[in-house]
Amino acid sequence: MPLASRRSFINKSAIMGGLTILPSSSVFGSTANSKLNIALIGAHGRAKAHYGNLKTENVVAICDVHRDNLAKGQEVFPKAKAYEDWRKCLDHPGLDAVLCCTTDFTHSFIANWALNRDLHCYMEKPLAITVNEARTVRANYLSKKNKVATQVGMQRHAGSNFNRLRELIVDGAIGEIKDVHVWGNRQIRKPGYLPAAGSPPSNINYDLWLGPAPHHPYNPDYFSGRPGANCLQWNMYWDFGIGQMGDMGSHTMDLAWNCLDLTLPESVISTTEEAFNPDVTPVTLTSRYMFTNKNNNKVRVSWYQGGAMPRSPIKALDLKRIGHGAMFKGDKGYIVADFKNRLIYPLGAKNDMTQYKRRSPEELIPPLGNFQQQWIDACKNGRPAETACNFEYSANMIETMCLGLSAFRAGEELSYDGKIGEVTNNSNANQYLTKAYRKGWTMNG
Ligand SMILES: NC(=O)c1ccc[n+]([C@@H]2O[C@H](COP(=O)([O-])OP(=O)(O)OC[C@H]3O[C@@H](n4cnc5c(N)ncnc54)[C@H](O)[C@@H]3O)[C@@H](O)[C@H]2O)c1
Repeated sequence: MPLASRRSFINKSAIMGGLTILPSSSVFGSTANSKLNIALIGAHGRAKAHYGNLKTENVVAICDVHRDNLAKGQEVFPKAKAYEDWRKCLDHPGLDAVLCCTTDFTHSFIANWALNRDLHCYMEKPLAITVNEARTVRANYLSKKNKVATQVGMQRHAGSNFNRLRELIVDGAIGEIKDVHVWGNRQIRKPGYLPAAGSPPSNINYDLWLGPAPHHPYNPDYFSGRPGANCLQWNMYWDFGIGQMGDMGSHTMDLAWNCLDLTLPESVISTTEEAFNPDVTPVTLTSRYMFTNKNNNKVRVSWYQGGAMPRSPIKALDLKRIGHGAMFKGDKGYIVADFKNRLIYPLGAKNDMTQYKRRSPEELIPPLGNFQQQWIDACKNGRPAETACNFEYSANMIETMCLGLSAFRAGEELSYDGKIGEVTNNSNANQYLTKAYRKGWTMNG
């Protein structure tokens, strides 16, 4: 029995009996062997990285606004029904799950529509491009977290360095964490939206590509990047993305976020030499966030992009040689890390690190395994919330990042109440937590 029919059978059986019947292990045991009926939205480009995992399941629907890319996806999944409009694709009968690799400005839309239809969802990063989008996805997810499995495409999280770093931080290798610095050096400068360059070709449904974004004229350069890197043609424009915060920032902030167990900041300030450009997100930016952690201690987290950098604690260590990295400052030392390596620097002549007890091999955090497979397993095994980058973890992180851009636009330090999602010291700045969408497009539909 396909998983979708099995699920509705379970639901119906529970309702018919008028009893609350929890799925038995035998039911989950058998679903674990069933294949998911998956819709792949965004058929080529980044999707190529998911083809291998998807081939182990049933891809029954495939959607792309670009006919050539759709055709490439169909070559791999010839049995899938083709769609151009993701809204129609999500109504494909019998779906269990959605894997989405479209443009950043459609992510929260597709995530919400999937959640509202009880569909498991793997969403490429970034999960959202405004504070309000992140909050909406999180709220929908939390109401469904015992039913649907979610994962955001921060697959570097499966690397062993993520676990080793978390162990060092939570086990106190550098004492109590006070200050965390995360940076990425990528710089892509654009003057503004691309100029009009003729009519869209017949193989691209440009109106659907724009989707919820305000109208901008067609230009072939939005589509001229190599597969999997075409996002660098559009993700820096305010209507299409959040620049490097959402791009490499999703991965690099994850390196630190995974160690800190934070939720939302209570203040944020952003600084840059760059003037506000209404078309393009800033290239060089520093955003500093203040949090209270679960032990009621203050932790400052700073994000640096496009050449802005923290100061190195050691003259001999040139942090600039680490393109994308994180540095943790505790009261007993520093840890500097990139995605694969970590370096401990104990602080002070008297520091012998005896406060820190190394874990035995048996006590290490177990490897996550294959990141996409973790999501597929969670769709089937009755423990849907147990993915590393589920929509709660990921929405908290991207809401925080987006607040940095809100503070940049407001031009001053913002106090933030994460419970209600409002700036409390400058009501005018609340406009930067959300954005207007093109008529006919509903983010939470
Ligand atoms: N996790 C990672 O390491 C990683 C790496 C690269 C890209 N990405 C993410 O993947 C996403 C796609 O990036 P890309 O470089 O492949 O971009 P892209 O512009 O090539 O888009 C990917 C595919 O989606 C299609 N598409 C665009 N809008 C669509 C829509 N509204 N409906 C259906 N199909 C649509 C495109 O035609 C294309 O085939 C981005 O969000 C990016 O951040 C993640």
